[in-house]
This record gives sequence, C-alpha cells and structure tokens, in this order.
Amino acid sequence: MAFFLCSLFIFLSSATACDSCLHQSKAAYFNKPSALSSGACGYGSLALGLSGGHLAAAVSSLYKDGAGCGACFQIRCKNSTVCSCKGTRVTITDINHNNATDFVLSSRAFMAMASHGMGQHILNLGTVDVEYRRIPCEYKNQNLAVRVEESSEKPNYLAIKLLYQGGQTEIVAIDVAQAGSSSWRFMERKYGAVWDTSRVPSGALQFRFVVTSGFDGKWIWAKNVLPADWKIGVVYDSGVRITDIAKEGCFGCDDDNWGRKQDVKSPSNLCADTH
Ligand SMILES: *[C@@H]1O[C@H](CO)[C@@H](O)[C@H](O)[C@H]1NC(C)=O
Ligand SMILES: *[C@@H]1O[C@H](CO)[C@@H](O)[C@H](O)[C@H]1NC(C)=O
Repeated sequence: MAFFLCSLFIFLSSATACDSCLHQSKAAYFNKPSALSSGACGYGSLALGLSGGHLAAAVSSLYKDGAGCGACFQIRCKNSTVCSCKGTRVTITDINHNNATDFVLSSRAFMAMASHGMGQHILNLGTVDVEYRRIPCEYKNQNLAVRVEESSEKPNYLAIKLLYQGGQTEIVAIDVAQAGSSSWRFMERKYGAVWDTSRVPSGALQFRFVVTSGFDGKWIWAKNVLPADWKIGVVYDSGVRITDIAKEGCFGCDDDNWGRKQDVKSPSNLCADTH
C-alpha cells in the first residue's frame, strides 16, 4: 500500500497543470490525408474514426512522449476574415517535430476552422495564428478499448493499443493480470498509445490503469478484457468508460472567454459557450 501511494504521488506531481487554459500559437496542415494515420501514436487507420478525421500532430510538450496521444483540443484561428469563432475539435494522433507551430492539422480539421465558404481561403493561408485549449474527449457510445497489436506473440509478448480514452485524462501506468488473480505485472509504454510486456500472464486477462486528470489520479480496473484466446488485430471492449475532467488550479486563465473576443467587431460571430 505504501508503495502504491508513493508511486501514485510521483505520477500526480508530474502531471502538467492548466492544460485547459487558452494558449496562443500557430497551426499548419498536412497536405496528405495519410500523413496523420501513420502518426507517431500508432493509431493507424483507426485514427480516422477519432473526431471524425479531425486529427492533429502536436509539439512535444503536448505529445508528452505519447501520454498526449488521444487528447482532445479545441483550436480556432484568429483571422476573423476567414475563421469562425467556434474553431474545430481535434484528437492528437501524431507528434509535430517542427516547433514553429504547436499543431499540424489534418486538412479536414484545418478547413473546419473556417467560416462558411472560406475553406479554400484558409488552405491558401497555409499557416494561421490560433488559440487553443485542451477539452475533454467525448465518446458517447464507446468504452475504452484495447487492441491487440500485430507484434504480439503468444505466450510471451503482448502489445496493446488503447482507443477511445475519454475525458481530459492521461493514462500513466498499466498493469495486467490473469482474470481473477492479484498477481499484477506492469506494462510499459512502447510508443504513442501502445503498451507492452514480455511477461504475459496466461488465461484471460484483466487490466488496471492509473488515470490522471489534472491533480487527481486514480486506478481504474477493467475485468476480463482479453479472453484466453486473445487474437491479434482484434479490438476488445474494456467495459469501462473514462470521463474524468481535469480539476486544475489555474490562476489567471479561468476568465478567458472562448469566443467572446471577436464579438465586439462582428456580433454575428458570437459563439455560444462551446466548452
Ligand atoms: C486573413 O485572411 C485574409 C483572406 O485570406 C488575408 O488576405 C489576410 O492576409 C489574412 N490576415 C492574416 C493576418 O493572415
Ligand atoms: C525548437 O526546439 C528546439 C529544441 O528544443 C530549439 O532549439 C529551437 O529554438 C526551437 N525553435 C523554435 C522556433 O521555438
């Protein structure tokens, strides 16, 4: 128990605060639609099922060595001639190594920042000033899912990918055990959203996840996720849903009113609270 508390404390103190504050940066877009589905998070073609193809590569401070994979952001561009004040909601699927812009978006997400009829204009600009903040991911009908990766090899090696991680959370640790057993073995983040272990328990498998959101963290248990005859390429429902929203002690950012700044000049741009 003491060890558990101690390790949880370390996880929590490394969680970055104030993700949901408004940040100023720039965003560009990928010309090739395939660029993001081959992204560093390892979602592959499953990426296209996240956020309706509104995907983003994020700089390393947001990618967080893969802990940022699957995080959701609301981004809007600031050129009031071409941009709506609602912006777009994206999911992180890749790392952006060029830190001149915090994000490189799929063209679909980039165009979604434009106001009606301005899609081509925003593409012509190429790079735009944006403001963004982290928002909870919403998967209304989907639990957290575990996909068994192709590199897995019975009986000794298991690699899994996490999908549909809701809320405003990070998964910072995963343990695996045979269903019904308390003999837990830790997994390691291999890259992006992929975790692995070369000490695979036999039989059906359960998992427990350490999920942090802001300063809060907790274990989430998922029982009987993989059947004893788990198969490569199959996506298994964890039976649990993650919806936690970060409670952050951010001073001086809570009064950032998304969507209000342009209103004086152009009342038609008035956005309802889109949070
Ligand atoms: C805003 O968009 C218009 C129309 O495309 C463009 O002419 C103008 O240069 C843009 N402004 C900035 C600051 O990028
Ligand atoms: C990008 O990051 C590198 C390495 O951290 C740094 O040396 C460089 O100055 C950064 N460039 C910009 C434009 O911030």
